[in-house]
Amino acid sequence: MVYRTILLRSILGLIILSILRRNEHDIVNVYDTFSNLMRITTGGKLLNFGYWTKDTINPLQAQIQLTRIFGTYGSFDTAQTLLDVGSGFSIPALHWIHRYSNLKIFCLNISLKQLKSANSEIGKIQHSKDNMINLSFTRNIDNRIFHINSTSTSIPIRNESVDRIAAFESAQHFKPIAQFIHESRRILKYSGQLIMAMPVITNNSDLMPFSKSYNLGILAVTWASEHYSVSLLESLLRKDDFELSNVEYIGGKIYGPLAEYYIQNRDRLRSEIIKEYPKFLELILYKSMIKMKRESDRNFINYVLIRATRK
Ligand SMILES: C[S@@+](CC[C@H](N)C(=O)[O-])C[C@H]1O[C@@H](n2cnc3c(N)ncnc32)[C@H](O)[C@@H]1O
Repeated sequence: MVYRTILLRSILGLIILSILRRNEHDIVNVYDTFSNLMRITTGGKLLNFGYWTKDTINPLQAQIQLTRIFGTYGSFDTAQTLLDVGSGFSIPALHWIHRYSNLKIFCLNISLKQLKSANSEIGKIQHSKDNMINLSFTRNIDNRIFHINSTSTSIPIRNESVDRIAAFESAQHFKPIAQFIHESRRILKYSGQLIMAMPVITNNSDLMPFSKSYNLGILAVTWASEHYSVSLLESLLRKDDFELSNVEYIGGKIYGPLAEYYIQNRDRLRSEIIKEYPKFLELILYKSMIKMKRESDRNFINYVLIRATRK
């Protein structure tokens, strides 16, 4: 009883801080506290929203699909070195290593806990019999994936040394994002590419700053950072002399289908979630899913793939 009260208070406090204060410490805490919630909801350790088509049957499949789309969009087949900033549990890196035999990946994450877990579990995941994960054994993995504990705004990698920088659903946390873009320019080789996938706020949104956080629902917790717009990102990229090669809007394949899945499977998911978390948290999650779908349908939020080339 006492334990549940403490847990309840600390989760409430964390939600409030993640919406209002949003510093790097809060972001790490949000992931440390809620990544297990994501694992229950999705059945895996990928931390992105996923990309849904008419054949997608569950969130894990959608997340793997988004990981693949990201690799294709970033032309990882023509790269030798990739820096993945905000690498989660390094599962995206594992998929890309498996798919692109040419690639060496530096996984950079502010969360030491995620990096440690990634480091110790990579071997296990590779041997997973799960058909959906479908990763056969990759030789020499220790010389192809490297883990770095640092922040997006101060990256311990030398100038002009990598072909691609990936911010795979992570740049929404980077603050100030201008500093990350600056670092990316410094680290990328000439003609190298910065590839980003992220939730954005659209110009249609005329909400006030605080009510934005309120209306975005679960995004205000998992998107616990600044709410960037594409026009801001474009102007920062151009300022740092990037050529903006492409922007794709894919929000329609992201938010609505995920919310639909949650609503349809709520009873099962709820019973799993409340084994580990207070009931009110599941209720917040459910309501947030509904809000997220509504804001996406009204085109107040979207999700973009951005490709920018270093000139
Ligand atoms: C939504 S998750 C995406 C993780 C991964 N790309 C995936 O799809 O599984 C965002 C990640 O960014 C990391 N992150 C947040 N702020 C960061 C920062 N300032 N510098 C580096 N990593 C950060 C978090 O720890 C988390 O791993």
